[in-house]
Amino acid sequence: MAAITRWLRALGFRSREERERLDLATRYEHYWYNAQKKIDLTKVDGFGRLARRVRDQRRTYLHVDRLYTLWQGVASLPPSSKAVVEIGVYRGGSVRFLGEALRLHGREIPMYACDTFDGHTVVDAAADTRHAVGKQFTGASVEKVRGYLADLPLVEVVPGDIQLTAPTLDVQDGYGLVHIDVDVYPITRFCLEHFAPKLVAGGTIVVDDYGFKTCPGAKQAVDEFAAAHPEFRRWHLLTGQALLVRLSP
Ligand SMILES: C[S@@+](CC[C@H](N)C(=O)[O-])C[C@H]1O[C@@H](n2cnc3c(N)ncnc32)[C@H](O)[C@@H]1O
Repeated sequence: MAAITRWLRALGFRSREERERLDLATRYEHYWYNAQKKIDLTKVDGFGRLARRVRDQRRTYLHVDRLYTLWQGVASLPPSSKAVVEIGVYRGGSVRFLGEALRLHGREIPMYACDTFDGHTVVDAAADTRHAVGKQFTGASVEKVRGYLADLPLVEVVPGDIQLTAPTLDVQDGYGLVHIDVDVYPITRFCLEHFAPKLVAGGTIVVDDYGFKTCPGAKQAVDEFAAAHPEFRRWHLLTGQALLVRLSP
């Protein structure tokens, strides 16, 4: 069988899956063009090993490229930063990555890991057409996530709707890095409005899924926020994330 496959391939035959992959690679060449000339992120000191380990644990949807953005967010935390927060934890992989990155950078500050652990509480019917309350991310367990993160004492897992839990967090000012990964318009918008004024100058907000066709609500929330807040500079990264950097206090 393998010999026949090899022979067919030598004659130029491709399976449907291979043809689809080739088609995608050609259409989206701008995303990986010159990849062989770029540094291999999995070899970056400190980062590569951590990212590979967290990926292997299969508890995050974030691939190496998006984890590297978070790594840079930790590396460039302003000295006055008092805390880090992630909203949208699911199975905890991105929290573990951030918690260990903080430790590797010698930044022993609290990190809040906020999620309902039961999926969405609200979606916008017009912007979030793929998402629904009770449909996605309902299978997470706060006890399992707490167990998984138990060796990171500075990480506090905060279950519940972020609209209710955000005002209860111990640190209410001086965030250095905020990671928003909730996919939908109303909660992305809420998190931006709530946490942005509490960010130190030079701090960053990373919004996942900004450039993904699957989450137009995330983009709408960021664009509306950026238009109303000139004290933030917005970048659309090729990873699909948005980066909002606070320019002034
Ligand atoms: C895409 S997942 C997060 C993925 C995770 N960061 C990772 O690395 O795989 C989105 C999460 O947002 C959470 N979420 C949605 N609405 C929320 C709300 N109102 N309050 C807190 N969490 C919410 C969901 O429960 C879900 O776990």
